[in-house]
Amino acid sequence: MNRREFIKDMAIVAGGVAGASLLGASVFQAAGTSGGKGKKKMKILVITGSPRKNGNSATLADSFIKGAKEAGHTVERFDAAFKKVHPCIACNSCGMNGPCVFKDDFEFVRKHIVEADCVVFATPMYYFGISAQLKAVIDRFYAINGSIHVPKKAVLLMTYANTAASEAVPIKSHYDVLLKYLGWTDAGQVIAPGVWPVGAVKGTKYPEQAYQLGRKI
Ligand SMILES: Cc1cc2nc3c(=O)[nH]c(=O)nc-3n(C[C@H](O)[C@H](O)[C@H](O)COP(=O)(O)O)c2cc1C
Repeated sequence: MNRREFIKDMAIVAGGVAGASLLGASVFQAAGTSGGKGKKKMKILVITGSPRKNGNSATLADSFIKGAKEAGHTVERFDAAFKKVHPCIACNSCGMNGPCVFKDDFEFVRKHIVEADCVVFATPMYYFGISAQLKAVIDRFYAINGSIHVPKKAVLLMTYANTAASEAVPIKSHYDVLLKYLGWTDAGQVIAPGVWPVGAVKGTKYPEQAYQLGRKI
C-alpha cells in the first residue's frame, strides 16, 4: 500500500466512525469468542505501554496472559517502556513495507506481529490517550503496514485514575479506527477506571475479567 492509499483509507475510516456511539460500549466484552475444547490455538502478541513495573495495566496484561496460556495459546510479550523503540521519523525508507532505518527492539514486534493471530494492547491513560511508549510502537507499524492488513483479533486493556466513562472514549475510538483500518476484529476490552497508584487495580474485578478474556479468547 502506498502513502496515497493509506491517507485515503484513513479518511474513509474516520468518516465511518464519526457519530458512532462509543459511550454505550460495554466495559468488558468478549465479542466473537468461542471458548471450549477444540478451539484454535493462537499466537498472541501482547504489547504493554506502561513504564510502571507491576503497574495496573501490566497487572491486566499478566492476568490476560495467564488465562490465554491456560487455554493453550502461545503468548509473546513486548513491554515497550523497557525496550528501545525509536519514534518513526517519516523518512519513508521502508516504503510502508520494508526495512526500517532503526535497528532496534521493534524487530521483535515485526517478527511476532506478522505471525500473530491476536494482538493485545495494554496501556495506561495518559492525558486521555494511550502512553507515548505504546504509541511509538504503533507508529512503527508504518514499516510493516503492507504485512499486517490481514485478519487478526485484537484486545484492549486500559487503566485510568478518573471514573468518567466519557474520558475513555478517545482511546477506545483510536483503537476502533486502528482496527478498522487494519481489518482486525475486536475480541474484547477491559477498561478499568478509578485506579491510580500501582496495585490499585488488584482489589477490583478487572484482573479477573482480563483473565477470563484470556481464557475464552
Ligand atoms: C503522565 C500521566 C498522565 C495521566 N493521565 C491521566 C488521564 O488523562 N486520566 C486519568 O484518569 N488518569 C491519568 N493518569 C493516571 C493513570 O492513567 C493511572 O494511574 C493508570 O492506572 C496507570 O496505569 P499503570 O499503572 O499501568 O501505569 C495519568 C498518569 C500519568 C503518569
